[in-house]
Amino acid sequence: MEMRQSWYRAADTRTSRRTYLTQRLTPETAAKLRKMTEECNREGGLNMRFVEHGEELFQGLKGGGMLRGVPSYVALAAPKSLAHRQEKLGYYGELLVLECTAMGLGTCWVSGTYDHNGCKEQIRLTGDEELSAIITVGMVSPEKSLKEKVVSVAGRRRKPLSDWITPSQGLPDWVVQGVETARKAPSAMNSQPVQMRYESGAVQAFVDLPEGVHGLDLGIAMAHFELGAWSAGAQGKWKPGHNGYVFEL
Ligand SMILES: Cc1cc2nc3c(=O)[nH]c(=O)nc-3n(C[C@H](O)[C@H](O)[C@H](O)COP(=O)(O)O)c2cc1C
Repeated sequence: MEMRQSWYRAADTRTSRRTYLTQRLTPETAAKLRKMTEECNREGGLNMRFVEHGEELFQGLKGGGMLRGVPSYVALAAPKSLAHRQEKLGYYGELLVLECTAMGLGTCWVSGTYDHNGCKEQIRLTGDEELSAIITVGMVSPEKSLKEKVVSVAGRRRKPLSDWITPSQGLPDWVVQGVETARKAPSAMNSQPVQMRYESGAVQAFVDLPEGVHGLDLGIAMAHFELGAWSAGAQGKWKPGHNGYVFEL
């Protein structure tokens, strides 16, 4: 997927939104998101589904009542046989999030607080597929609701750059901009589990337990890093390495 300046700008303004307006997405917006989901699936070998009418999944207190009025969502599913499934879903899912943000929509990554079985039924998940999480999508008011503010306060603090990358001094500008963009990425419970290392002109990125939710966090941070580096003029791609992933120019 080609990087876009609008996504880089969106990384700055994105924040998880958990209260949605009652309006549905316009047919044009829904068509755009469906198309991008299909493109990501083709490129990544994924089976993500854009569910335009997903209201039922969050009705009442389903999913613990953390999210309200969700009209649509992207279900992050992939073949069980696909290697690096979690990182790929994280990477492409976050590009979708940034596209939504650029279009003025609200989003939230949700791996825990939703009705997993209800979702599997709604998207007709097959026995060969695994569902890792969903991304809620919808119109939002410019300001967060009081409830959203309370939930967000707990989870928006970011670790300093020196906790993300070793060494943290004397780094080229593209690496600094990559890490700064990765720092803005969402992560499950805001745990920011990704570690990076700069060595011999390349960046490695890894997490403990990539098979779980941290694999999603890693893919999300990789998408942000690539965007930041690209915006600083450094074009590179992530490739699987011995330990995690390697970003080379
Ligand atoms: C993989 C993943 C799973 C998440 N799961 C949930 C969830 O189940 N419920 C929820 O309310 N937020 C969830 N979040 C949102 C995080 O809490 C949020 O991204 C983090 O607190 C940082 O806040 P921000 O997104 O506003 O920058 C998840 C985020 C990620 C990346």
